[in-house]
This record gives sequence, structure tokens and C-alpha cells, in this order.
Amino acid sequence: MALSREDNQLLTRVEGGAAMGEMIRQHYWIPAIPSIKVEADGRPFRVRLLGSNYVVFRATDGTVGILDERCPHRGASLALARNEDNGLRCIYHGWKMNARGEVVEAPNHAGDQAQFCKHVRVNRYQAVDRGGIVWAWLGKGETAPRFPELPFIDLPAAQRSVTSTEVPTNWVQGVEASMDSSHVGVLHESTTQITAGGGNQRLLMTKALAPKLEFEDRPYGYRYAALRALGDDKVYARINNFVMPWYGIICPPDADGPSTVFFSTPVDDVTHRAWFVHFNPKRPLGMTIMSASPDVWNFPPLPPGGAADNWGQNRDLMKRGHATGFPQHLGTEDFAMFISQGPIADRSDEQLCSADGAVLRVRQALLKSVREFLAGKTPTLADNPELDYRRIRSVGGVLPAGGDWRALAEAA
Ligand code: FES
Ligand SMILES: [Fe+2]
Repeated sequence: MALSREDNQLLTRVEGGAAMGEMIRQHYWIPAIPSIKVEADGRPFRVRLLGSNYVVFRATDGTVGILDERCPHRGASLALARNEDNGLRCIYHGWKMNARGEVVEAPNHAGDQAQFCKHVRVNRYQAVDRGGIVWAWLGKGETAPRFPELPFIDLPAAQRSVTSTEVPTNWVQGVEASMDSSHVGVLHESTTQITAGGGNQRLLMTKALAPKLEFEDRPYGYRYAALRALGDDKVYARINNFVMPWYGIICPPDADGPSTVFFSTPVDDVTHRAWFVHFNPKRPLGMTIMSASPDVWNFPPLPPGGAADNWGQNRDLMKRGHATGFPQHLGTEDFAMFISQGPIADRSDEQLCSADGAVLRVRQALLKSVREFLAGKTPTLADNPELDYRRIRSVGGVLPAGGDWRALAEAA
């Protein structure tokens, strides 16, 4: 069940024309930066995706633009540009580019400016600003893939929070963790107790009772139900969804509680961005540890040390009963695990157990898609007539023993 070295490369590598990177580039929208960071006429941001650098800015009229970071003139960084009057002006020689990717001024060119500008090629990409995130499509051609209409996308801003941190490991380690429910009660035992918001119930449900998992392929990936016998001929079911290529949509801890979408997007082969979206479809979230974070582009925090000091693990705190010695945040505990697995986890000598079914299915879905792509096809999980992101439901509830958990999702 372990992966061959070749398959591990195929699964994880995204840079320099690697097939997985090219598949994602062509067939998926990529979350680039939290919308709130990018202000009209404010500073542009360097965003690194799939091993290439881009610059994201919001023009005077509110439009978001994504261009190659290198200025089309002689390659100075547009992350240093001035953002003024609906365009980025390179500070080296003053060329100005707008969000549509047109050069509108090249002041150091003598002669017919308009004519000259028309012929300069600017690498510009489609961008949308939805769900509190600026998304990029980096593919070739004009027809963008279907947008992932995930359950938080159309909610009012007060009903969701978006935070994100850059983590120095390959992205697949993060994606696997989003579907790896057997780590939650162990790694996050203390942080779920400390954090407000249904922590104790979540703990009970994830640790006290070993669930039976039932899987079902879906047009976007798969879903699974974790089934726990409650006695009284009843079963408690929690349904989670994996949506290609990296979204884990997690069942809320209780019926009215906030839900979570985790995703890990590839910055390059050995760096990813871990995203945490919390949302409540029924009411504003209020202030949470996420929405109150000092910088939504750098939260939760990375572990505070390096390998030499075990990434800053606090053993004194463990003596006092903390499960991990990483009290900073639940995400910090995850990041410590990812980093300790190495820059690109070696999956060729793993020894998997019955709890790893969901992780295996993540790998299978990604590998199936990249193999279809290599065969010259559009991956079936990227474009399927039955693919309707709006109908994805990650819900929980109590069923009579033997009842069908799919009914819970249909009812929601
Ligand atoms: S390098 Fe940007 S204007 Fe010259
Ligand atoms: Fe985790």
C-alpha cells in the first residue's frame, strides 16, 4: 500500500513542468491571497504558486489583477511597483500595466507610445475575488475551469474567517492531514480542550469511540461517513468531503456550530500554504481566535524552533499535562508534524493501518487525475457533468442503527 518512489514524485512535485503542477495549473482555480490583504491602490503582493512568482494587486476601481512578478520591460519586481490610477507602475523606468494586462504607458520609449504599448506582451492571469479569497487561474486558453462553489463562498463576510500560513514542506502532507481524522484526538487533544467552541464534544467524538468508516466516490472526489454506535440502536454519523485537488470540508462539531474547510496549496515543491476557512451558514462568527489573528496572511504560527531544538517543543509544558508541547495553536501542532516528516515525505516505506483509508483515497484521486492529464484527457474529477460544488454537504446527525447516512446529506 505504500507508494513507489516514482508515484510519490508524481504525486508531490509541482515545479518546473511537473505533471501534477501542470494539471492543477490548467484545471483548477488556486487560492492566492486573503482578499482583505489586497487594498485598492495599496501595496502589491508577491504570491508564489506552483514554483512561479506572481504579483497580486487591487486597482483604484477595485478590480483585482494578477501578473507575472517580472516587469515586461527588463524584469524588475512589480512587487516593488507603485499602485496608482488603475495600474501598477514599475519603479525602474515607469512602465505602467493595468489589471487587464495591458501596458498603458512606457515613458522611456520615444515615438508612438500607444502603438508601442500595444505590442508589449504582459503575462496576465484571470483572477476572481470571492469568499474572502483572491483566486487565480494560471492555465492556457480563455476558458477557465468551473469555479469551486464551496459552502462558504457566498456567505456574508461576518459569517466566515480566512487565515493562511506558509509552511516549509510539500503540499500533499497538508492535504492528507485534512482528511486524517485519527490524528485529531491525539495530536490536538489539549488544543481542542483549550479552544472554545465545542472542543469537548469534538474530542469525545474523535477519540472516545473508534468509528467505522464508509466511503463513497463523488464527482468531485469522495466523501466518507464516520459511524459511531451510540447504544439504543442508534448511530452517530459524521460526513466529511474531499474535494479535488486539496479541499477537506469538515463536518461541524455540533449542528449549529461553525464548519471548517482546510486546504493546502502548493507554493513550490517544498513549500505550501495552509489555509483555514471557518464559517457558519446561519449566523456571524463573532470574534474568534482566527478572526482576531494579528495577520490573516501569517496565522496560525509556525512552530517556534528548528530541528536542532525539536522545533521549539516545550517539554516543561508536557510535564504539566499538555499533549504535544506546542500550545500556540492547533495548526502549529499540525505544522510541526508536517515539518518533521521532511520537505517531501517519503511514502515508500510507510506502514499504514486501517485508519489510513481516507489518506489513501486522497492520493488515489490526485494520482488518477494526473494520469488522465498525462494521457491527454481532462481529469474526470475536474470536469464532470454531475459535478455540482454547491451540493456538497459535510453534516452530522443521529440515525437509527442500519439507517443510511447519505440521507443526512440529502436532507441538509
Ligand atoms: S524594468 Fe520595469 S520599467 Fe523597466
Ligand atoms: Fe490537525
